[in-house]
This record gives sequence, structure tokens and C-alpha cells, in this order.
Amino acid sequence: MFVTFEGIDGSGKTTLLQALAETMGKAHLCLTREPGDSALGKRLREIVLDAKTKGLDARAELFLFLADRAQHVAQVIRPALERGEMVFCDRYCDSTLAYQGAARGLSQDCIMDLNALASFGLEPDLTFLLDLPVSVAKSRMQQRNEAFEGRFDSYDGSFHEAVRAGFLELATRYAERIYVLDATRSLKELVSEAHKQLLARMPQ
Ligand SMILES: Nc1ncnc2c1ncn2[C@@H]1O[C@H](COP(=O)(O)OP(=O)(O)OP(=O)(O)O)[C@@H](O)[C@H]1O
Ligand SMILES: [Mg+2]
Repeated sequence: MFVTFEGIDGSGKTTLLQALAETMGKAHLCLTREPGDSALGKRLREIVLDAKTKGLDARAELFLFLADRAQHVAQVIRPALERGEMVFCDRYCDSTLAYQGAARGLSQDCIMDLNALASFGLEPDLTFLLDLPVSVAKSRMQQRNEAFEGRFDSYDGSFHEAVRAGFLELATRYAERIYVLDATRSLKELVSEAHKQLLARMPQ
């Protein structure tokens, strides 16, 4: 089973993924993230997330993320699924649609085709969308003491609002696959709700 975690920066994706993995027990569980969990991905991550890369054209950025995805699916996600593991992935195709599509204005239809190509058509069985107001995410990131180091974090609030709206639109479009969590709630409540969803959808 392939599960992805989506949401704006600082929405709590990584925190929930890790806590849920603890709850599930880590045997037969592959924890991974985008961009980054292949040798190529680690190098691309440095380029894409490097604050110095400011001014990277939206199309160039799109293709870097897609290159990472292709390698990541081929080298990490698909082999793990073939071994019968459950895969938890921190960001995936929906992030491309929300960031490069909804927020940066590239064609959604075009991105959908490119996502399908880059991901070998591999779609998640379940996606958790952590939804929360941009202001709350920003203050959490400040508390995380990593505030505004990454390139995306230097964008103004309206960029993040557009990303959030993009994710919510996807949740409406793919209501079967995307489960929206109110990310302002406590981690304990989020883990419990996500765990229930996961158990309900796991193949018997
Ligand atoms: N449910 C929660 N309630 C309060 N604080 C939380 C909650 N979940 C996460 N946090 C805190 O918010 C901050 C951001 O969380 P986290 O790093 O998991 O977000 P993220 O979505 O993975 O961010 P990024 O997109 O930057 O990777 C962290 O300091 C984390 O401890
Ligand atoms: Mg994270």
C-alpha cells in the first residue's frame, strides 16, 4: 500500500508520518520523502531547496522535481512495494500540482501528463492532506527554528495561500483518494484519525 503526505510547508507532514510509523510498527514499512531519497534526489534536493537558487524558472523547477520523482519511484518506491512493504512518502505528485500548477501558474493538464510519465503511472492508494491556515504554519516553522531558510519559505503568504487552495481543490477532485486532516489539531488526535483511515483502507 502506497500512502503519501501532502500539505503546505510547516503543516506537519513529517511529524505525522513519523508518529504514524511508530504507531504502525516499522517492520515492512518504507519511509521516504520527495525530493531526495535516491542518490540523484539528494543532489537535486540541494539545488531545488537551496536558498541561492532563487530565481529558478518555474519550468526548470518543475523538471527538477520530475527528474527526482522518476528516479525515486524507480529506485525506492516501486522496489519497496514489490517487496510487499507499505510505503509512506512525504510529498508526491499532488505537491507538483499545488506548487508548480496552482501557485506558480503552469498548466495543470500538462503537469498531470508529466506526473504520470515521471511516476510510471504509480498513484497513491491513500493521501493525507494536512490542511491549516498559512499563518499557523508560518508560526510553527518559526518555532521549529528553521524559519525562512529554504527557498519556498521566503515566499510571501499569498504564495502559500495559493498552494493551500490548490491542495484543497485536489482534495475535492480526488475525494476518494485524498483524506483531509485538520492540521491545527494535536498530533495525538491526528495520529489516531489517520491510523483509523489507514486500517480501514488496508487490504485484508
Ligand atoms: N499537530 C501539531 N500541533 C502543533 N505543532 C505541530 C503539529 N504537527 C507538527 N507540529 C510542529 O510544527 C512544525 C512543522 O512540522 P513539520 O516539520 O512536521 O512540517 P512539514 O509539513 O513536514 O514541513 P516542511 O514542508 O517544511 O517539511 C514542527 O516544529 C512540528 O513540531
Ligand atoms: Mg517536512
